[in-house]
Amino acid sequence: MTPAIEVTDATVRYGDVLALDGVSLTVPRGRVCGLLGTNGSGKSTLFKTVLGLVRTDRGRVHVLGRTSAAARRAGLIGYVPQSEQVDWAFPVRVHDVVMMGRYGRMGPRRRPRPDDRRAVEAALERTGLAELAERRIGALSGGQRKRAFVARALAQEADVLLLDEPFAGVDRRSEETIVDLLRSLPAEDTTLLVSTHDLAQVPRLCDDALLLQRRVLAHGTPAHVLRPEVLMEAFGVRTAPEAA
Ligand SMILES: Nc1ncnc2c1ncn2[C@@H]1O[C@H](COP(=O)(O)OP(=O)(O)O)[C@@H](O)[C@H]1O
Ligand SMILES: [Mg+2]
Repeated sequence: MTPAIEVTDATVRYGDVLALDGVSLTVPRGRVCGLLGTNGSGKSTLFKTVLGLVRTDRGRVHVLGRTSAAARRAGLIGYVPQSEQVDWAFPVRVHDVVMMGRYGRMGPRRRPRPDDRRAVEAALERTGLAELAERRIGALSGGQRKRAFVARALAQEADVLLLDEPFAGVDRRSEETIVDLLRSLPAEDTTLLVSTHDLAQVPRLCDDALLLQRRVLAHGTPAHVLRPEVLMEAFGVRTAPEAA
């Protein structure tokens, strides 16, 4: 079967900065792959590579057997960006943010149909945000904002979800909600690529893990990747850090 995500030998530069160096990654359908690495190790760049938002010097990317552009056009990829990349002053309600997940399915006038409303209500419900639907996104806590973006990705009903640090700046309760929710998705045949600094969540959340440091340092089961000698090489510490 065609993998959900297939990156082959990707090299990405920003001017003089080599951000990814010959990175290959395969995520089979219905699996959860954790993306680990220190700040600046290339995690966000790898997401943008899968999305086709950065130019690769070398390498190929396929999402469900299609090019990134074709997969995005078909609405197959849902993306929760890192918080730093979102303008929180933008005056939209939580409900509107989640509805954006449906835009790809709507006509140019973006008039929601009953299916769209149902998908948005269900996503708000699953992320525990139904009561906050009318609030402005900027008025929410970090954890609630993250959940709103996860809800947007859920409403999209995409086959492949890319989540860039969904637990950063998030309270414990939101983190637990998000982990439980994400863990329930692969049963529905959704494939996930999730970056995180929270190594303690990895065995619970992920089927596989990939440790990145511009190139792939380790790739395999969480137990294989979270070995002390491997973490030592990437993080320079013997025990799992709280935040890298
Ligand atoms: N738009 C950009 N322009 C120049 N350099 C960038 C840009 N985005 C990221 N970088 C650099 O590329 C490297 C990888 O960054 P990034 O993918 O954001 O890593 P991570 O998400 O793991 O923190 C870092 O050295 C970072 O400074
Ligand atoms: Mg990043």
